[in-house]
Amino acid sequence: MIVSPSILSADFGRLDQDIEMINRSQAGWIHCDVMDGVFVPNISFGFPVIEAVARRTSKPLDVHLMIVNPQNYISQVRDCGAAIMNVHQEACVHLHRTVEAIKAAGMKAAVTLNPATPVETLTDIVADLDMVLLMSVNPGFGGQKFITRTYDKIRRLRKLIDENGSHALIQVDGGVNLETGLAVAQAGADSVVAGSAVFKASDPVDYIEKLAVL
Ligand code: DX5
Ligand code: ZN
Repeated sequence: MIVSPSILSADFGRLDQDIEMINRSQAGWIHCDVMDGVFVPNISFGFPVIEAVARRTSKPLDVHLMIVNPQNYISQVRDCGAAIMNVHQEACVHLHRTVEAIKAAGMKAAVTLNPATPVETLTDIVADLDMVLLMSVNPGFGGQKFITRTYDKIRRLRKLIDENGSHALIQVDGGVNLETGLAVAQAGADSVVAGSAVFKASDPVDYIEKLAVL
């Protein structure tokens, strides 16, 4: 399991120490949640913070854009050091064009689906994607409860990926802890994002290791 700890739940007053913790852990990536207060009802952080994280970390940056018009920021996301640029299907009118532009900029292209968006909406683009992220909470906040219908979506997405000859990874984001993470792994996901569960743990490095072996 590729674990992508979300720094949304980190202590921004000592972000360097929290990034050092992630560097020491078995995390595969670092998940950066960008929120604009329009696509989601919350505002988080933007490019200066992502750049600072990139300077401090040895892990690839997994940038999840919960913003309208993400196609306007592709070069900025690339320039601040992202390895994966993740846009919401619901935010992209011309999703194919946006995915092609992300790949042309040298990043992995990922697309996120909100809980109410069916996986079948990706039928005609899944073969072009490096990753699909299924939201298991409504995006905007850390610390929410996992929506259990996601397990069935993971299984349906796996089928869609296989049927279309896609190499896309499946990532799940929201309410992931050791219990929901185990069920997510059993349903066929390749990666989990975890924010509050990791940062509230008494030993976050150990918690990330436990998620990684699920
Ligand atoms: C939610 C964000 C998530 C969030 C996860 O809108 O996309 O990445 O940080 O937080 P937890 O793991 O606490 O649900
Ligand atoms: Zn996220």
